[in-house]
Amino acid sequence: MSWALPAAYGSGKDTNERRAALPRCAQGGLGLITLDDVSKRFPNGTEALRDVDLEIASGDFCFLVGSSGAGKSTIIRLLIREELPTTGRVFVDGQDIVAMRHGQIPQLRRRVGVVFQDFKLLPRKTVAENISFALLVTGRSEEEASEETERALSLVGLSQRRDHFPDQLSGGEQQRTAIARALVNRPSILIADEPTGNLDPVTSWEIIKLLLRVNELGTTMVMATHNAEIVNALRRRVIHLDHGTVVRDEREGLYAA
Ligand SMILES: Nc1ncnc2c1ncn2[C@@H]1O[C@H](COP(=O)(O)OP(=O)(O)O)[C@@H](O)[C@H]1O
Ligand SMILES: [Mg+2]
Repeated sequence: MSWALPAAYGSGKDTNERRAALPRCAQGGLGLITLDDVSKRFPNGTEALRDVDLEIASGDFCFLVGSSGAGKSTIIRLLIREELPTTGRVFVDGQDIVAMRHGQIPQLRRRVGVVFQDFKLLPRKTVAENISFALLVTGRSEEEASEETERALSLVGLSQRRDHFPDQLSGGEQQRTAIARALVNRPSILIADEPTGNLDPVTSWEIIKLLLRVNELGTTMVMATHNAEIVNALRRRVIHLDHGTVVRDEREGLYAA
């Protein structure tokens, strides 16, 4: 995989400018995530999260682990405001996103990129169109969208595949397209919900190397995973959920205690 790295990717200047643009009341830096005594009960009575306190620092790389149904995806959906907590508060980049007005949600989703296990690419759009779509819907000019799309394509090493359709790509290339799309708005946080769940081991490692690179460039990274091999090899922060509760939170953790 080749890395033609854009100089401004999450660079200090960009980050500082954006930080200066935050309201003065905002606590903490870009990329900071705080869950303050968060519980989530779904209307059918399922208690998906219970009294979760969590702080993820700007620039951190952390894994969310735990059995199926432990609450990993629910945390992710709270962070992009696809769900609201039943009680508690959630802060992203110092902003209370529970109290946030509905009209501010698109702006939040530009600051928090997400990728999923099943890629969620638009099948009738090319790689480049899948990526630039995220910019054009936010009213950027064609020229700016095209520049930023090329930057994201080069970051994930897919410039040569820009005009292919998703069904002409390998699973790893599809996930790299999804990562480029998630990064094209230069988010301060990238969240991945089991991003290697559909990939073979070699391709999984390529994706992880890419996510590590993105993190090195300054993006806070949160990854839900069942991939014990990767978690154990990386020795990063591990947040272990069990039935909606954080049962383990280790700085250089392993997949299992
Ligand atoms: N929309 C929903 N309505 C009802 N229950 C839900 C909903 N979404 C998730 N759940 C339940 O909440 C719990 C946590 O789910 P989830 O966060 O998806 O777990 P994980 O991602 O760790 O597998 C599970 O018991 C799941 O069935
Ligand atoms: Mg899940």
